[in-house]
Amino acid sequence: MTDAAYWDWRYASGQTSGAGSYGKNAEYKASVVNTFLAEIGATSVLEFGCGDGNQLSYYHIPVYRGLDVSRKAIELCRKRHPRAELSLYEPGDLGLGMYDATICLEVLMHVSDESEFVRTLDDIFGHASKGVLIQTTLEARPHGEGTQEWHRDFLPYLERYPDFRILRIVEAPKPDMICDFILLERTCN
Ligand SMILES: C[S@@+](CC[C@H](N)C(=O)[O-])C[C@H]1O[C@@H](n2cnc3c(N)ncnc32)[C@H](O)[C@@H]1O
Repeated sequence: MTDAAYWDWRYASGQTSGAGSYGKNAEYKASVVNTFLAEIGATSVLEFGCGDGNQLSYYHIPVYRGLDVSRKAIELCRKRHPRAELSLYEPGDLGLGMYDATICLEVLMHVSDESEFVRTLDDIFGHASKGVLIQTTLEARPHGEGTQEWHRDFLPYLERYPDFRILRIVEAPKPDMICDFILLERTCN
């Protein structure tokens, strides 16, 4: 089953983007995102993996576009946010312009295929004129049978993007949340 097929199945069976996108976890994630966007002066944002859109309700973003590999996620997100610009995403095939910031929360550790993982990262960094915020796990762990999680040694991947520097890493409030936040700013255009 592809990752997109897994998420389509999951949403179609009535499940959500996950506990991380609701309640206190959603509030915490939004506080990190909203603070970062204000700090770098970002008013337009492209999100990779918008999910069912519950998390989006907590953001303060004037110009927003959401992408997801799951058609079902886009449908659910559209129900919650009828006026939001939303599109189905195919990693590596993005004919979009630049946004002030790109964000990607609790998505990358769910990507099984290495080439899709790198193409998604290239798209994330290729569409941000001011900064990037990624929330993911930072350490490699063996893939747990029956889980939809592939944890990588994440920070070395950032060497592919020399135009960006890490502003700071915000550690997740564990054990409620396992994914840390990496906040980066573009240093040259
Ligand atoms: C755990 S949910 C997180 C949703 C949202 N970011 C949030 O924080 O509430 C993960 C979402 O990422 C999507 N996804 C998986 N692989 C993706 C990829 N390569 N690019 C974009 N979205 C992807 C899934 O379809 C799913 O909707």
